[in-house]
Amino acid sequence: MAYLLGLDISTTGAKALIIDERGAVVASHTSPQPISTPKPLWSEQNPSDWWDGIVASIRAALSASGISGDAIRAIGLTGQMHGLVLMDAAGSVLRPSILWNDQRTQAQCDEITQRVGGERLIQLTGNRALTGFTAPKIVWVRENEPEVYARGAHMLLPKDYIRYKLTGEYVMDISEASGTLLLDVANRRWSSDVLDALEIPAAWMPKLCEGSEVSGVISAEAAALTGLKAGTPVVGGGGDQAAGAVGVGAVDPGVVSLVVGTSGVVFAPLSQYSYEPEGRLHAFGHAVPGRWHFMGVTLSAAGSLQWYHDTLGHGQSFDELLAPAADVPAGSDGLIFLPYLSGERTPHPDPLARGAFIGLTTRHTQAHMTRAVLEGVAFSLKDCFNLMANANLPANLEIRASGGGAKSRLWKQIIADVLNATLMTTNSTEGAAYGAALLAAVGAGVFPDVKSATSAAIKTSDAVTPSANVAAYAAAYPNYRALYPALKDIFTRL
Ligand code: XUL
Repeated sequence: MAYLLGLDISTTGAKALIIDERGAVVASHTSPQPISTPKPLWSEQNPSDWWDGIVASIRAALSASGISGDAIRAIGLTGQMHGLVLMDAAGSVLRPSILWNDQRTQAQCDEITQRVGGERLIQLTGNRALTGFTAPKIVWVRENEPEVYARGAHMLLPKDYIRYKLTGEYVMDISEASGTLLLDVANRRWSSDVLDALEIPAAWMPKLCEGSEVSGVISAEAAALTGLKAGTPVVGGGGDQAAGAVGVGAVDPGVVSLVVGTSGVVFAPLSQYSYEPEGRLHAFGHAVPGRWHFMGVTLSAAGSLQWYHDTLGHGQSFDELLAPAADVPAGSDGLIFLPYLSGERTPHPDPLARGAFIGLTTRHTQAHMTRAVLEGVAFSLKDCFNLMANANLPANLEIRASGGGAKSRLWKQIIADVLNATLMTTNSTEGAAYGAALLAAVGAGVFPDVKSATSAAIKTSDAVTPSANVAAYAAAYPNYRALYPALKDIFTRL
């Protein structure tokens, strides 16, 4: 029996997952990761913590599985996207990594948009400049830490730093490179136009590879540290969303991954490159060769419910909080929640957007407010789907839901009703690491391509179909839609 290893550097933990060649989970271990906020809006981690964590997790997973490192046929990598790892010519890290959720770079985003031109930037890269993306972080270092920038020689992202430590290679896969704002996403190569315009050295850019392509092999040094076998292939892998999409089988157009995690993500595979003219959706390369994807990210999905539970939940459990909301009529008797608690990305790229309850009356109870939170997030996900409507996606989408929020049957029903679409669940609960391990299986030749791997490994179940509430939500949605434009200026002044 052959085994595959998926490694995931998420913001909260460094995870090692072993699966067998049929896709069954064999062992998994996660080492928690510290995060630091040295100043307001900043969010950083030390790459050395990722490496120490992943080495510990690999060792723990191998030991729990009882299989030897020699039995691992290939390794796939995934992780939090966009985080800048800046290294010198000798491969030493020059400063802590500036993460995807760091918000210090609005001025650099404005500057990039001005330098390249807003429309041209979207034409060249498929995307607009967002504080989360990598290029603004590079410009920030140049402007604020010139002595660090002067020593720069290599730019990597979190999981690619782990690849470097495992193999000695500077390589990035296409899905991750798409989130730098430096990739010509249509042609899957670095954009010399954008690099030139921003005066970022092209020599810093790592070699590019596809998600299931072999990018290097485990070095003797890494083998000694991890217990893996020297020479084991490491495939390109993908950003957490792309690898997560592989992990639920969202490979071809028509199967959409919907993640109701802290943020809510709608991920729709495309067989041809396309972009949203105003850049309100991310247009990225998929971790699957020959595929691209649209992605809409509403920043506070289960994060909204978590906030609501923590602040207004009277110490109730999630179950205690959610149960009475099932008896509230669809539309929460005219109460609407805007989920922009951390600003927003999709459909309103606005870091200053705010959350709100609109329409409160004395008749409203806690249960109404709970239901309004679930509905507001569902409406925001509908906004993401609506932006994709012009993209020639198949009419009958199969939506595969995952993430903490998808554990709630009530929330899935509300989302199915708001979208007027069926939601499915898949057998894997291992997320992005599972997709990374499947990409490794393809790289190792266990499967001829990613579609064969996902078809063999992934089963769907638990269909949640639209109910009689579809009409009520269709009537409520325009009111939700009207609120952000009406409140936008006030949000800015707040
Ligand atoms: C994707 C994104 C997040 C991070 C962290 O654009 O910002 O998914 O990768 O999870």
